[in-house]
Amino acid sequence: MKVEKVKQSRWNKDSWRNTEFGSVFSDHMFVVKYKDGQWQKGEIKPYGTINILPSLHSLHYGQSIFEGMKAYKGPKDETFLFRPDQNAKRFNKSAARMCMPEIPEDLFLEGLYELLKLDEKWIPKEASSALYIRPFMFASSNFIKANPSDEYTFIIITCPVQAYYKGEVHVKVESNFTRAAAGGTGAAKAAGNYGASFYPAKKAQENGFQQLIWTDGNHHQFIEESGTMNIFFRRKNELVTPPLSDSILPGITRDSLIKLAEHHGIPCVQEKIGLESLVLAHKSGNITEAFGAGTAATVASINSITYKEEKLSFEVNDDGFANKLKTELQDIQYGRTEDPFGWRITV
Ligand SMILES: Cc1ncc(COP(=O)(O)O)c(C=O)c1O
Repeated sequence: MKVEKVKQSRWNKDSWRNTEFGSVFSDHMFVVKYKDGQWQKGEIKPYGTINILPSLHSLHYGQSIFEGMKAYKGPKDETFLFRPDQNAKRFNKSAARMCMPEIPEDLFLEGLYELLKLDEKWIPKEASSALYIRPFMFASSNFIKANPSDEYTFIIITCPVQAYYKGEVHVKVESNFTRAAAGGTGAAKAAGNYGASFYPAKKAQENGFQQLIWTDGNHHQFIEESGTMNIFFRRKNELVTPPLSDSILPGITRDSLIKLAEHHGIPCVQEKIGLESLVLAHKSGNITEAFGAGTAATVASINSITYKEEKLSFEVNDDGFANKLKTELQDIQYGRTEDPFGWRITV
């Protein structure tokens, strides 16, 4: 692999702190192009501008996908990744859905490992900070005909991020706009899914909510996700989460929490969660906790869910399921405990 290093590193131990999530980037990026029906040689080069023309295919037709993952520093300064093969696999599922070429998993992971070795000092050392990793691919042919592109560019960039804490989380059930329709692209990490979610999310924020709960696109009766996280509820001594479908992103945190909970004797039921039955179960005291699960925050407790005129409040306790699972998962990710699942990969 060709490697062109920066002449002068931009790294500074503090300059990225107190900046917006995902706004400071490490020195290098991994780039590999697809053309003439095959992947070319990958290269690492200084993070910097990429030349594009106004006819760039992805700007017009949205063939653009991405992943989100993190690198963590362990107690002995080791560099860890968490289930990176799962991100590579999901990336290729997104690619297939968007009619884009799949990238060999080895190429994805080899580029990532080389980049992390080179930019290792950018991985924050303090507990719960991490290096956020953004692999993405976009259509890079230059024509404006509504056909799939012939050329694609895959890039990995990274950014140091601090612990994700945003205070109380009050969410509203979205009963008008749809994030993902049956048969659509919701199970893929397609850029357009996110672009289309900004307007309803902004409206909810204007009304004092931090996030939205997305519901099914048919009748807005069933809960699907919370913002950019999968959602879980505690029902007595078990967890409940909606089953995967083509309108739900199959979260790696979601899958890990299900396995972790079951490992600790907490059953996790995957069943459709109707809003009317949620309200009834909450009223009868059967549902006591609600939380989101995703790479950025790991686990984020939800303080309240507003549905029509009802505001359902939930418990947020240190000894709740959410906090227990968050601690367990982060201990595995940061190498503070045994990893019976083989999820933690040393770079
Ligand atoms: C829509 C959506 N749902 C769920 C998730 C959680 O997925 P993961 O746990 O793999 O980060 C994400 C974040 O990637 C997301 O964008």
